[in-house]
Amino acid sequence: MTYARIAGIGSCLPEKVVTNKDLEKTLDTTDEWIRERTGIERRHIVSAGETTSSIGLIAAQRAMEVAGVSAAEIDLIIVGTATPDKVFPATACIIQRRLGVKGSAAFDVHAACSGFVYALDLANRFIITGGAKTALVIGAETLSRIVNWEDRGTAILFGDGAGAVVLEVSDTPGILVTHIHADGEFEELLHVPNGISVGYDKTRAGQAYIEMNGNAVFRRAVATFDNIARETVADLEGGLADIDWFVPHQANMRIIKAAAKKLGMPMERVIATVNEHANTSGASIPLALDLAVRDGRIQRGDTLLFAAFGAGFTWGSTLVIY
Ligand code: UT7
Repeated sequence: MTYARIAGIGSCLPEKVVTNKDLEKTLDTTDEWIRERTGIERRHIVSAGETTSSIGLIAAQRAMEVAGVSAAEIDLIIVGTATPDKVFPATACIIQRRLGVKGSAAFDVHAACSGFVYALDLANRFIITGGAKTALVIGAETLSRIVNWEDRGTAILFGDGAGAVVLEVSDTPGILVTHIHADGEFEELLHVPNGISVGYDKTRAGQAYIEMNGNAVFRRAVATFDNIARETVADLEGGLADIDWFVPHQANMRIIKAAAKKLGMPMERVIATVNEHANTSGASIPLALDLAVRDGRIQRGDTLLFAAFGAGFTWGSTLVIY
């Protein structure tokens, strides 16, 4: 049987750190409120000149180095991002050029916080059907560029970062199962209401910002993780006990704890980085994965479950033997 196997992982966090205390200076909020309601303590934010492609590129280079693959071997690049450098070309094409990869397919997937699991799902399908041998899957975001820094309901939540994996065709497992879903009914609960085709609100100086009904999104996220848990049980012979590590999208520590509870996973087997990274949307899962592999918690042969939920609404999961 043919599988897509994770051959290498890398990540990149911008150097600049903004703490909750820093936000207290400009917003009607407190460090205590943010920690209690979200678990977030700090977030990394890009500086002038840094972009989604520049941090995505570094994450990709690190993943390729770990995997020991050269630019000539990459035949597919998919970037999951809601904050591309430009309307076009795709951020994947910009990264492709900077990596010196020639002739591969390269495109972006726009599934908001589910971008990485959507991109993994696609890359897995390419590999198991013979459409690619070595794929670069990147989750990269510069959400700070679409955050309204005057809105305490959203400004406290988001951060920037990038993570990447190299997937290689293999006859040993690999990615076992992927699921991706969407329900467009809830468009306005979490969206950027301005944009290229609907136009920009002139009162906001041409800017586009995230708007969210936080509480409604929170409740939906928790309910969706319940569905992901049920779907995952059906895929596992030994049930959820087969999972060694749960690597969820990092939006809010309360959502992560509720999801872990639904899955029956003790928090010791959950990778949580939301305190350090905040919500980095499509980058949050590969960032958490890279951290846990580097610090030795996740070992080769472990069974991992990635699960994400985000604007759209979109959601999905990946069951993988690392
Ligand atoms: O990646 C997927 C997308 N995003 C998410 O999954 C985020 C989902 N939502 C959340 O994480 C939470 O809903 C929030 C952290 C955004 C908010 O927590 P909450 O427990 O749902 O609070 P709330 O929105 O119900 O607001 C409670 C109170 C309100 O005051 P009143 O009306 O009770 O007087 C808010 O105005 O907290 C107030 N509040 C704040 N207070 C201090 C809202 N934001 C802040 C803030 N600092 N930053």
